[in-house]
Amino acid sequence: MKHFIKICAIADLEEFKGHKFQLDSITEIAVFKIKDKIYAVDNVCPHNHTPKMYNGFIKKDFVVCPIHLYEFSLKDGKPKNFLGGNLELFETKIEDGFLFVKPSGKTKFNFDF
Ligand code: FES
Repeated sequence: MKHFIKICAIADLEEFKGHKFQLDSITEIAVFKIKDKIYAVDNVCPHNHTPKMYNGFIKKDFVVCPIHLYEFSLKDGKPKNFLGGNLELFETKIEDGFLFVKPSGKTKFNFDF
């Protein structure tokens, strides 16, 4: 069973801006702070496996990949305008002003263009 990993101070997260972090040896995450909520998603877009989600932007309850502008739900990772796979979402918690994220333990391959 995977344990939560300390990521950063909540105060260091700029609202509505994506932040990239290395979660573990195989996973990069994109973290978004939206009002009082924090979302941690896979930094790799399911569309073209491009690790740029941190550079995306928020549109209501969706994060929009900056490469081809496909949208993924921040509630369940489902794509809105694309028939491919879901964007992986990670469990988060806040303790003493710090963000913790739980790795999924899944194996993946990233293609950086
Ligand atoms: S790589 Fe993200 S929408 Fe195409």
